[in-house]
Parts: sequence; C-alpha cells; structure tokens
Amino acid sequence: AVEIQNLRDRKRAKEHEIKDSTLPEIAIVGRSNVGKSTMLNTLTESPNTARVSSKPGLTRQLNFYRCGDKFAVVDMPGYGFAFAKEEDKVAWKELVCSAFCSSISQFGFWDRVNKKSLLIIIFFAHRLVQIEDYLGTRKSLRRIYVMIDARHGLKVADKEFLTMMGATCSKKFQVVLTKCDLVSPPDLARTYMVVQEELKKSFKNAMTDRILMVSSYTGAGMNTLRKDMLSACKQ
Ligand code: GTP
Ligand code: MG
Repeated sequence: AVEIQNLRDRKRAKEHEIKDSTLPEIAIVGRSNVGKSTMLNTLTESPNTARVSSKPGLTRQLNFYRCGDKFAVVDMPGYGFAFAKEEDKVAWKELVCSAFCSSISQFGFWDRVNKKSLLIIIFFAHRLVQIEDYLGTRKSLRRIYVMIDARHGLKVADKEFLTMMGATCSKKFQVVLTKCDLVSPPDLARTYMVVQEELKKSFKNAMTDRILMVSSYTGAGMNTLRKDMLSACKQ
C-alpha cells in the first residue's frame, strides 16, 4: 500500500533533474493514441498528470514523472502514423523512394520534394531519434512497457518499432494490451494468444511468459501492472 501511495505522489521532473536522476526508470512506449498517457493517469490515480487527447500525436516529447522516491515513469510520444492522413502516408512513402533514388543518381531530389512530406519526415525522424537515443543509452532504465491496442494486436508499425528496439537496446520489454474494456473476453483471449506467439517467434527481448491486460477506464489490470513495475525497479 505504501508503494502505491508513492506512485500517487508523482511529479513532473525538470530538465536538470532528469539528467542527474539515478532513480530506476520505466518507459512507456506504443503507437500514437494507444492510451499511454491515460494509463499513466489511472496508474497514479490522478487524472491530470499527463495530457490526454482523442486526437493521436498529443505527447510530443519524453515526459518524466517521479513516483515518490521509488522510481520514475517516462511517458513517450507515440510512434506510427496514426495521425497522418492517408495521402500524407502515400506521399511519405513516395518521398522516401525518391530520396533513395536520387541519393543514387545525385540529382533531381529537391525538384521532386513535396515540402509538407519533408516536414512530416523530419518530425517523425526527430521523434524516433529521441526515443531510440533514450532507450539505447539510458543507464537507469529498468524495463520498457510496450502498449498495444487490444482491438488491433501487433500492427506493422509495432513490429517495425520492436525490431528497431531489438537492434538498439538490450533491455527486456513487457507488452501490455490496452483499452480491454472495448473488446469481448473471447476476442481478448484470441488477441492474447496471437500476440504472444508473434513475440515468441520474432522478438528475443520480449517477456513472453505473460502479457498484461489493462483498461484505464475500468481500472482492470492496474494493480498487476503497478506490482510489475515495482518489481522491475527492484531488480
Ligand atoms: P499519444 O500521446 O498521441 O501518443 O497518445 P497516447 O497513447 O498517450 O493516448 P491517450 O492516453 O492520449 O489516449 C488516446 C485516446 O484513447 C483518448 O481518447 C482516451 O480517452 C482513449 N483511451 C485511453 N485509454 C482507454 C481505455 O482504457 N479505454 C477506452 N475505451 N479508451 C481509452
Ligand atoms: Mg500521450
């Protein structure tokens, strides 16, 4: 109970506090809009800790929250392209192809660049570098929690991200299915099995003994998640 009390006693850290922090850290990652920030709010039982929005892409930087003197939780921006419109995604892909082709031929790149697509590339590239840099170099990082929407299971963006993570970071990650209130128990059980199989097959750093399931709306699974985080920080 005391430890959960500490979890509630959270506070957003300042830049220098983050740099010098020696507290064990937990990172929360996942696609945009999967419910990371909402989960942090439910976890700490304080609805206004992290900002939440129905529009994907709200969290744009790494947000550190100290949970008492036990550990810190880092709310990450989402990866994936959930908020880019369909035509932007196509433009983005075309731009990558054209950049690749012109880097071989050495000319014609700027003529073909769609400026809006370029901005989107820079935005996502910067975000990924930030996340990758943190996950790859942070000494106090104890465990990474990867949030997956229980309605969708692992999507292409998740697999790409987990592959990137496997290459840059040797830390274990725990998958958490979110928004379980929106899925019927049989569908949830099916998604659980499929995700577990996919993790076992392709991602060696995944903790596959169990997958956690939560709903930030009903509070289901939150105590198990709290205990899991605390035990990760004690290791
Ligand atoms: P980014 O910051 O954009 O990466 O998104 P995020 O992963 O932090 O998602 P956020 O917490 O902002 O929530 C996105 C939307 O999902 C909001 O409209 C939430 O109300 C909704 N949501 C979050 N958790 C749950 C849940 O457990 N159940 C249901 N039904 N909706 C949820
Ligand atoms: Mg967020």
